[in-house]
Amino acid sequence: MRIGIIGTGTIASAVVRGIANDGHQITVSERSAANAQALAAEFDSVSIASNQGVIDQSDVVILGLMAEAAGDILAPLTFRAYQQVISLMAGASLDAAAALVAPAQARAIMLPFPGIAKGGSPILMLGDETLVGQIFGTRNQVIALQDAAELNAYLCAQAVLSPAARMVSDAANWLGARVSDVAKGEAFLRVLVASSLEGATADALISALNTEGGYNQRLRLHMENAGTGAILAEGLDKLERG
Ligand SMILES: NC(=O)c1ccc[n+]([C@@H]2O[C@H](COP(=O)([O-])OP(=O)(O)OC[C@H]3O[C@@H](n4cnc5c(N)ncnc54)[C@H](OP(=O)(O)O)[C@@H]3O)[C@@H](O)[C@H]2O)c1
Repeated sequence: MRIGIIGTGTIASAVVRGIANDGHQITVSERSAANAQALAAEFDSVSIASNQGVIDQSDVVILGLMAEAAGDILAPLTFRAYQQVISLMAGASLDAAAALVAPAQARAIMLPFPGIAKGGSPILMLGDETLVGQIFGTRNQVIALQDAAELNAYLCAQAVLSPAARMVSDAANWLGARVSDVAKGEAFLRVLVASSLEGATADALISALNTEGGYNQRLRLHMENAGTGAILAEGLDKLERG
């Protein structure tokens, strides 16, 4: 496919890295010069153009802009009716994106995570699952959602990642104060948590780690009794309210 990127920022760069060896012809906007040049130097499939040049050389256009800036940036540009647009903008609905790119077709909102650069990453999306699946589905897990409310709920819930990482970091620091190799301890905990959750549902894992009086049960109950579950639910409710 001929794929264009307008807004070659952090997440768009990760998106490009994830598909740059898949046989596409990719054009990225020149504005984010350091990112664009790094991508073009890394991959023969990536070239750099002005915003209008990106559109002119693409059948699928991916918007990696901040939603609040997108109106002013896209207004002077000319899209064509045959072009399909995927928006990465968390802050703009599919209808809002459609208004910005008419007469091109806004096909999907897609919210990737930085891991898309390497593949094996979840992708939240609304809209044309076939198009997103064609481009990203072989290397990643595309999670198609029904509507904006569902997308918003997923967006809130995915924020558990940072507190989960905080918890691993705190345990690693605790461990680090007691062992000879701090980095080795942190790496052990990361692999332990990631690999354990990959192979089982969270509830199945909790159940498997529920040996009466065992370390896992004791630490979990200690934290639950201190109210961490309620605090998490309260925080998610706050995110949902905006
Ligand atoms: N970061 C994530 O993990 C993530 C995940 C899912 C979705 N998103 C969404 O992706 C979008 C971008 O997020 P981000 O974190 O990647 O932010 P970012 O790094 O700031 O990317 C925005 C990019 O837009 C560029 N830009 C600004 N004005 C432009 C113009 N006139 N023409 C072309 N490009 C222009 C910026 O370039 P300059 O730096 O030169 O100003 C910047 O590279 C947001 O809407 C966000 O909601 C982000």
